[in-house]
Amino acid sequence: MPRQSVVDLPPSSIRMMFNEAAGMEDVLHLSIGQPDFATPQPVIEAMVEALRQGKTKYALDAGVLEFREQICAYYSREHAVELTPEEVLVTDGAVEAITLVLQAFISPGDEVILLEPAFVVYAPFIRMIGGVPIPVVTRVEDGYVPDPQEVENAITPRTRMLLVNSPCNPTGATFPVEVLKQLADVARRHNLLLGSDEVYEQLIYDHPGRYPSMLTLEPDRDRLFIFHSLSKTYAMTGIRVGWVVTGSSNWKILQKLHTFTTTVANTPGQWAGIEALGGDQGFISSMVSEYKERRNLLGSLLQGMPHLSSYTPGGAFYLFPRFDLPMDADTFCLRLLKEAKVCCIPGTGFGDSCRQAFRISYAVGPDAIREGIRRMRKWLTLF
Ligand SMILES: Cc1ncc(COP(=O)(O)O)c(C=O)c1O
Repeated sequence: MPRQSVVDLPPSSIRMMFNEAAGMEDVLHLSIGQPDFATPQPVIEAMVEALRQGKTKYALDAGVLEFREQICAYYSREHAVELTPEEVLVTDGAVEAITLVLQAFISPGDEVILLEPAFVVYAPFIRMIGGVPIPVVTRVEDGYVPDPQEVENAITPRTRMLLVNSPCNPTGATFPVEVLKQLADVARRHNLLLGSDEVYEQLIYDHPGRYPSMLTLEPDRDRLFIFHSLSKTYAMTGIRVGWVVTGSSNWKILQKLHTFTTTVANTPGQWAGIEALGGDQGFISSMVSEYKERRNLLGSLLQGMPHLSSYTPGGAFYLFPRFDLPMDADTFCLRLLKEAKVCCIPGTGFGDSCRQAFRISYAVGPDAIREGIRRMRKWLTLF
């Protein structure tokens, strides 16, 4: 018999939509949660070269030292934060980093505050390990930016961690720096662990200058976990390389658990990561300006759209409108797919407050955005 807590993991609404769409023709996908850009060629060459050189064996469990040094150099260059390789653990994507930290630091009954809509993994995984996810709901009319006071109000003696994700999946909301600071302050005042999922930290469209990492706002690394990966910035979702940054005593605990679960992350992928982080970064700015153009296009096409409330997201490649029709998000998205041949992701998996919302991804070219939104408008006008 499988463990009940695993049986209780919710079915994936993303999978449901892809399965439904698979048997259909002429579907426009505004659903994809990964970059449509190619992995940079020098990064591919570095990975192939690593394979040729026989770098196909187990690496150090904490990660290839040269890669961890490159990650330290990245934070020094990008955020003026100095780290040591004993504060960086390389994982099988950011998902492993997040789930390792939750397993290692959340005990049964511990409460974890998350900002809802929230990335699909957080709440189900917290429940699976016996923790209690406490959603603090953000709203479309605020552009899904949280109110730090509401976060503080949700704290109880059982609260152990605050989990922040900016830019956010599924909303694209990019919290103003002042809000990030206030969230860090709330966590500090209440002695909470602070998890910051920064996988979209480079995909920022309106913030002037460098968008800060929580590392620059919270100096106490013994309470801080930064989750990151190569997946989004370098279009490498399938290579499966990510990392967690934390204080060295937490790092030792995580290293042990990592050894007992995945053992090591993809070795050639880490050599590719050295090139990704250390090589020419020029393509990032052209990718970001392309995403920004798409974001603006999508925003203008959604203007005056019947039945939808929208906003302008500041990062990632998602928009999460609410709809005012008398049906839930699963039905809305299934009907949108079957009747208009547009595939979007129902809000259902992102939290209980998201049953009347859905995720549009603009990790697709402008023609697909134009045609997808044209079909959506025609369909919504029927109601
Ligand atoms: C907010 C967020 N965190 C983490 C991840 C996982 O990324 P990775 O491919 O590095 O495991 C994703 C992927 O969609 C995400 O959107």
